[in-house]
Amino acid sequence: MKLVDIVGARPQFIKLAPILKAIEHYNQEHPDHPVEEILVHTGQHYDYEMSGVFFDDLGLKDPDYHLGVGSGTHGYQTGEMLKRIEEVLLKEKIDIVMVYGDTNSTLAGALAATKLHIPVAHVEAGLRSFNRRMPEEINRVLTDHISDFLFCPTETAVRNLEREGITKGVHLVGDVMYDAVLQYAELAERKSCILEHLRLEPKKYALATVHRAENTDNPERLQAILQGLEAVSREGLLVVVFPIHPRTRKQIQELGLQVNSVRVIEPVSYLDMPVLEKYARVILTDSGGVQKEAFFFQVPCVTLREETEWVETVETGWNTLVGCDPGRIARVAVEARAGVESIWPYGGGRAAERIIGSLADFVKGVNR
Ligand code: UD1
Ligand code: UDP
Repeated sequence: MKLVDIVGARPQFIKLAPILKAIEHYNQEHPDHPVEEILVHTGQHYDYEMSGVFFDDLGLKDPDYHLGVGSGTHGYQTGEMLKRIEEVLLKEKIDIVMVYGDTNSTLAGALAATKLHIPVAHVEAGLRSFNRRMPEEINRVLTDHISDFLFCPTETAVRNLEREGITKGVHLVGDVMYDAVLQYAELAERKSCILEHLRLEPKKYALATVHRAENTDNPERLQAILQGLEAVSREGLLVVVFPIHPRTRKQIQELGLQVNSVRVIEPVSYLDMPVLEKYARVILTDSGGVQKEAFFFQVPCVTLREETEWVETVETGWNTLVGCDPGRIARVAVEARAGVESIWPYGGGRAAERIIGSLADFVKGVNR
């Protein structure tokens, strides 16, 4: 089987890691018909802290193609990716194209492949926020509707697809980000010095991340969230550590906003992030991945949005949606407690293995 993986943004490098391990494992078990993997990096993220560090620290292979698309408007970025991915796909004889999550790299990869009649596999299919103003929601809906394999992390995702009439090719496999946590958290604990480096005491600090367009591109919302983080530090007597996404840093600088009592740091590697998450008293975030990781580590989460795709984290009591009101952010964060329900909706940590197994079986069936 010849498989093309398309990635480009930070969370996709993390989702890719367990898939590459599963391919390695599959090839050891099936030396007669191995999976040949071609890695395409669109270049959506390019700063070392947003891209290179994940390849280095997670031991990922170098991309076979680096398309160097970079930043731009949605149309420019998605269009350039579409053109350049198509060129790669036309060069190779490919059985499957695999795309991850909900970024512009996801949609461009899926669209380029499906127009060339190459089957598309979508990892993290079926997630919905039901908010069409989010670029990610458009990317998810469109990608799911042109995918042939829909690898769902949760039962909710399977039901969302059913409601849109998608039942063929749907596989409930669990969450690849849970695979990643199981595969890297221990290594992270051994290697990371981030707590010592930042002089943080376990359970005496809060961890914050903010990068969603709906929060960063609206000056009032961004200012209110920053005020909320400052109030958490003041009222909760907690250090608030804020590894800042470049998009957010840029907006804060352009708008001349102040962040006084919050500890702003550069984005951290995936060998530091799980440690920061695990030992935080509370996590405040608008990230999809970070909400889930808070749940994996059973750390209370305060989500700086009005809705979430990861509804199970809320239903189990581990996550609270607070939007951007500073008073509410501080109150909920300071009072945050452990969840109540003890269900585990994200599978057993073998999602990647199931994904590669299903695709290999399919290709064998076609070639028989
Ligand atoms: C993208 C995804 C989002 C995902 C996030 C993960 C889309 C529409 N959005 O958002 O779903 O949650 O990645 O982090 O695909 N920038 C840099 N250096 C970089 C990358 C970006 O400075 O290495 C700055 C640029 O100013 C750029 C801005 O960040 O314009 C936004 O980057 P972009 O990739 O368009 O979107 P993200 O906000 O990163
Ligand atoms: N992450 C990281 N360093 C950081 C911030 C996030 O390694 O400074 C990891 C985080 O642990 C999670 C993923 O990046 O695995 C989430 O990516 P992001 O928040 O950028 O995107 P989203 O999940 O919202 O699409």
